[in-house]
Amino acid sequence: MRLAVIGCGYVGLVTGSCLAKAGHEVMATDNDPARMAMLDSGRLPIYEPGLDRVMESACAAGRLRFTSDCAQVVRAADAIFICVGTPPLDSGEADLSAIDGVARQIAAAARSPKLVIEKSTVPAQTGEQLRHALGVYGRSNGATFRVASNPEFLREGTAVADFFHPDRIVVGVEDDGSEGQLREIYKPFLEGRFHCPIHEPKCPPGPGPMFLVTTMASAELIKHASNSFLGLKISYANLIADLCEKLGGNVEEVTRAMGLDPRIGPYFLNAGLGFGGFCLPKDIQAFIRLAEKHGIDFGLLKEVEAVNKRRIEQFVEKVRRALWVVKEKTVGVLGLAFKPNTDDVRFAPAIEVVRRLIAEGATVRASDPFAINRARLLLDGVEFVEDPYDVARGADALLLLTEWQEYRELDWKRIYREMARPLVMDARNMLAPGKMKELGFEYHSFGRPDLTANTVLASS
Ligand code: UDX
Repeated sequence: MRLAVIGCGYVGLVTGSCLAKAGHEVMATDNDPARMAMLDSGRLPIYEPGLDRVMESACAAGRLRFTSDCAQVVRAADAIFICVGTPPLDSGEADLSAIDGVARQIAAAARSPKLVIEKSTVPAQTGEQLRHALGVYGRSNGATFRVASNPEFLREGTAVADFFHPDRIVVGVEDDGSEGQLREIYKPFLEGRFHCPIHEPKCPPGPGPMFLVTTMASAELIKHASNSFLGLKISYANLIADLCEKLGGNVEEVTRAMGLDPRIGPYFLNAGLGFGGFCLPKDIQAFIRLAEKHGIDFGLLKEVEAVNKRRIEQFVEKVRRALWVVKEKTVGVLGLAFKPNTDDVRFAPAIEVVRRLIAEGATVRASDPFAINRARLLLDGVEFVEDPYDVARGADALLLLTEWQEYRELDWKRIYREMARPLVMDARNMLAPGKMKELGFEYHSFGRPDLTANTVLASS
């Protein structure tokens, strides 16, 4: 099919590249000239594992093209995916001005029937507004519009694998024609005909994708309800971690046993610094505001948010307690991205931790395998270095803030030798406390027994 993608951020680039790879003709556009210039020259403006290969091969096959001319993209397509950002307003509500702008552009440019598909995360009833705007602004063009909602469930870092091996494809439609078109678009993925070019462990390994046809409002709600529930699981695990610290339990033992119950499931129960990124925090906020607007107090989610915000302060307080005086201490930071395998630092808990330590007078030296350039734009007064061993050199404390696999595999004996004081604060519960103790580290994490070199472990 001939498809258009409007918005070349994470969602748009993954959607457009994977659909083109699967055999569709895709034209993509974005209103950011710098972004378009990069894409024109074959470079990706984001780091997403495997996306470069998918994009390259789709472009080489002539099925993926980029242009700044939005009208051209609209006219060439039968179906248009709206993938623009819906950032939070100060009130916490989603800012829908980009969707509104795109709707008017589509309405003005279209000359033939179009299926317009919302892919961006939007509050329920946006589809209705979108249909209305398209009809009003496109009334004299002879074009007709159908609207559908097709929320994305892509996780940054594994988005390509998620697209090729989805656990569900949700389409909210108002008529059989839209459903048929969406089935056609996703046919290659439903039939598993196209080989995913990257191999990522799927979490959880599901029975195969399910194609769910719902109303538009349900599809819009499914996205918010799913992300909010994931946040709820994480905050729950974090409160269990707090209790473990008070009562002498080990959060990993508790959540592992909980997760063996299939009604609960093992995923998203990792305690630590809390959730960040551009989706979970903003989607939860927007869901709370949406509920409020319709007279429902979603107090449960307000608490999820509050627990998550407290994680930062709780961690900084742990650092304070361990260092005694933070001012003029050298603190090494490993990990700036909001999670591993991405360069995304938006709403990353690590960024907030660094800001606070700088404000308290610490000298911060930080590293991340991919996110340094983006972090530089958000942080003043930090020394960025590539090599994790340089981060440790002469440091009074080493903070692990993102659970990159390469940090697990560091030569921790060497780190011990490099540090002025062998103090490791593991905000992601990445390392084994017993092993760190054996190496002589003073080691703190969340919800697991704290260890100094003198602590005797029951298990050791
Ligand atoms: C999320 C949703 O998972 C995805 O389905 C949706 O489409 C987009 O939003 P993403 O933003 O990539 O994806 O991040 P996700 O993998 O959900 O992680 C969010 C945050 O939660 C990260 O900061 C991560 O470190 C944290 N997290 C995750 C935990 O603290 N504990 C966990 O157990 C899991």
